[in-house]
Amino acid sequence: MPNYQVTFKPNDLSVAAAEMASLLEVARKAGFVLSAECGGQGTCRRCKVKLLSGGLFIAGEQNLSDAEKAGNIVLACMARIDGDVTIELLPESELRYDPGAADRDLEPQEHPGYALKSLGLSLTPLVSKANLDVPPPTLENSVDDYSRFQTSFKKQVTDKRIETPLSVLRSLASEVRQADGHLAVIYAEEADRIGVVQAVHEAKYMYGLAVDIGTTTVFVRLIDLADGKILGEASDYNAQISCGGDVIHRIVYAGKGKELAELQSLIQQTINKLIKSLLKEHKLKKDAIKIVVAAGNTTMQHLFLGLDPKQIRLEPFVPTVTRIPVVSAASSGLDVLPTAPVFHAPSVASYVGGDITAGLLAAGIHRSEKLTLYVDLGTNGEIALGNKDWLTACACSAGPAFEGAGVKCGMRAAPGGINRVESDATDGILTFQVIGHVAPRGICGSGMIDLLAELRATNRITPRGKLNQEIDPRRIRANRGKQEIVLVKGDNGTGTDDIVLTEIDIDNLIRTKGAIFAGIMTLCKGVGIQPQEIERVVIAGAFGKHLDVNNAIRIGMLPDLPRKRFEYIGNGSLQGASMALLSQRMWQQTQDIADRVTYFELSSWPGYMDEFMAALFLPHTDGRLFPSVGKINVR
Ligand code: FES
Repeated sequence: MPNYQVTFKPNDLSVAAAEMASLLEVARKAGFVLSAECGGQGTCRRCKVKLLSGGLFIAGEQNLSDAEKAGNIVLACMARIDGDVTIELLPESELRYDPGAADRDLEPQEHPGYALKSLGLSLTPLVSKANLDVPPPTLENSVDDYSRFQTSFKKQVTDKRIETPLSVLRSLASEVRQADGHLAVIYAEEADRIGVVQAVHEAKYMYGLAVDIGTTTVFVRLIDLADGKILGEASDYNAQISCGGDVIHRIVYAGKGKELAELQSLIQQTINKLIKSLLKEHKLKKDAIKIVVAAGNTTMQHLFLGLDPKQIRLEPFVPTVTRIPVVSAASSGLDVLPTAPVFHAPSVASYVGGDITAGLLAAGIHRSEKLTLYVDLGTNGEIALGNKDWLTACACSAGPAFEGAGVKCGMRAAPGGINRVESDATDGILTFQVIGHVAPRGICGSGMIDLLAELRATNRITPRGKLNQEIDPRRIRANRGKQEIVLVKGDNGTGTDDIVLTEIDIDNLIRTKGAIFAGIMTLCKGVGIQPQEIERVVIAGAFGKHLDVNNAIRIGMLPDLPRKRFEYIGNGSLQGASMALLSQRMWQQTQDIADRVTYFELSSWPGYMDEFMAALFLPHTDGRLFPSVGKINVR
């Protein structure tokens, strides 16, 4: 089969590609991360590129407008290489990660070691270091090195069963002699056994990594095991994004053939890239990293380990594993000390994963008297409710609309995204705040919530989400028989389109917020409480950072409670993984949390559908649930 040359502009990068190769795949292999919410099914329109010259074969129907087709726009997932070709990557399709605010010095209380101290806990990392004296061999005592090592360890450290990897054994003879018998031994203690991680003449650095494997974004945190301080943090998009925007599309993609291995490789590459940048920044070698604690949703855990996730989306929704055994970094494909143990925060079920158990640990719900609601507003909406006596959790099939999927001009929180919307109290004029001080390109999750709240408050949309053209004929218009509101006019000179919100978008957003609120109500009713009894609401997840809680209540997404009961804890999953890394007691508590959570499978839960239908209204069909909103809405 002939090979053709594919050139990507504006980077001018050329790669070879086989005839009939998917352009989306070629771009991915060339290192470009294109948005592909639908996983290459040609429905999401996120993977648009411009054909500048050459031959492409279009396989299947292109879901594009006539103007886009006339402008040589194609969907990369539908395009096959059919000759030498030059492609322009469009800013709205290529995902360029923006880590947000520049580096800043962390406040003392932000370090996980501080969090442990405030709980009265000392640092007891999941790996320990012992200085071990191993007597030298003599002609009279010619016992082998490993036997002398084991005997010394049992006498001087603990008499638990010792397991030593072959790679440690291989270097033992030279290390013992180089150390003149005074070895530094790094080990992990688990129930009745000791796993030796390293036995060396000198172990100067003792660092660990906490990893949050998110569906959209991956975070890696470098932590000093000696004092529990964060040395650095790095993050990037999960490179699997170009294989599907959410867990369902990834599972479908994994089932295509060899794609499970590809997804595993992509997440390993993403994490290793972040590890490499942290090691470089702190002038460390990979052997300095003695342990990794990872937290991710159940699907991400499966894909990271190369486990088939198929059963996660098939009734009765049973994953391969919820308690992942400790595995070595080498067998996990991580570029740290090969024998470093990799711990995974335990999952509860297919759709309540280790990210939630870690988040609950960080939020301290399991040890609090207060009845607490935990809402993780990531790519998947997970909710937990409980206190120190009981815990419940569910995953609402909210879908990634707040990340831009299924919303015509939706996008992730990135430069050009409208992230705040306000309307003037007297004339209702809308004003926007845009991320990154650049021209607006679309609207991101927090902006969508603000916008819904403001449109409802100014009567531009009805409680059912229908646009009311009479109220704002200047902005609201019909387009091919469908109503839409123009937020920002496009510029013919630069070829940019209008930024709009359509009635179909509004419907998607109402379904998303409705799924979240219905999940909250189902948990409340399941345990026999009223939402008003919730004493504390913890919002976690990257999207929560920009969330205006008041507007989330005004649209009926979160319960109508006094605003001071709400708090944002940032990346709960990463913080929980960090705390577990540094404390054996905290690690044990993640297991206890997973044991104690009662999981509600909403797809078969009686009453969930009724709750969902009742929530498809702004704010809700039962106005008594939102007493403060009636006073705010409709100025
Ligand atoms: Fe190409 Fe969705 S339309 S990935």
